[in-house]
Amino acid sequence: MLSIIAALNENYVIGNENKLIWHISDDLKRFKKLTTGKTIIMGRKTFESLPGVLPNRKHIVITKNLNYSRENVSIVHSIDEIIELKDTTEENFIIGGGEIYRALIPYCSILYLTKVHSNQTGDAFFPKFDENDYSIIATEKHGDYDFVTFKRR
Ligand SMILES: NC(=O)c1ccc[n+]([C@@H]2O[C@H](COP(=O)([O-])OP(=O)(O)OC[C@H]3O[C@@H](n4cnc5c(N)ncnc54)[C@H](OP(=O)(O)O)[C@@H]3O)[C@@H](O)[C@H]2O)c1
Repeated sequence: MLSIIAALNENYVIGNENKLIWHISDDLKRFKKLTTGKTIIMGRKTFESLPGVLPNRKHIVITKNLNYSRENVSIVHSIDEIIELKDTTEENFIIGGGEIYRALIPYCSILYLTKVHSNQTGDAFFPKFDENDYSIIATEKHGDYDFVTFKRR
């Protein structure tokens, strides 16, 4: 099974210059809680935006670069290899960024979104998606942001 975890603002912005544009510690805690012990899947740019390999998670990085190699990271060169994981029983998390969310959202069963109430601009975006294709299965309001979990109908 494939799920997405992402934080986006009112303009669907998720980042700028290969960085996040907010620091929400509760969001980072939620990310850690949901993904620890699981496989996390990301584009090469998102991987390079991280401080390093995150503890207790299997990392899969997608790149077209056939020479790319990093310690403790599995590398794949095609989106199709990730799509195959949709038929597994365990939950695998697509953690970004924009290119990878866009390519894989059609294959994801659950979207764990943090909707940030801001309208900053940026250069990386979450794909526009039709909320009618999903049911909301959980909502947690936190003032400046909400955690909203969507399940594909
Ligand atoms: N707010 C959030 O929840 C969140 C989460 C994650 C990331 N972000 C932000 O998102 C931004 C990064 O997103 P992005 O869209 O620029 O980059 P990205 O999706 O992280 O990575 C793009 C890279 O993935 C590889 N790739 C994409 N499609 C591929 C394919 N079909 N086959 C093989 N490789 C493929 C390519 O790597 P190569 O160039 O090596 O071939 C491409 O350059 C950053 O600002 C980051 O901070 C935000």
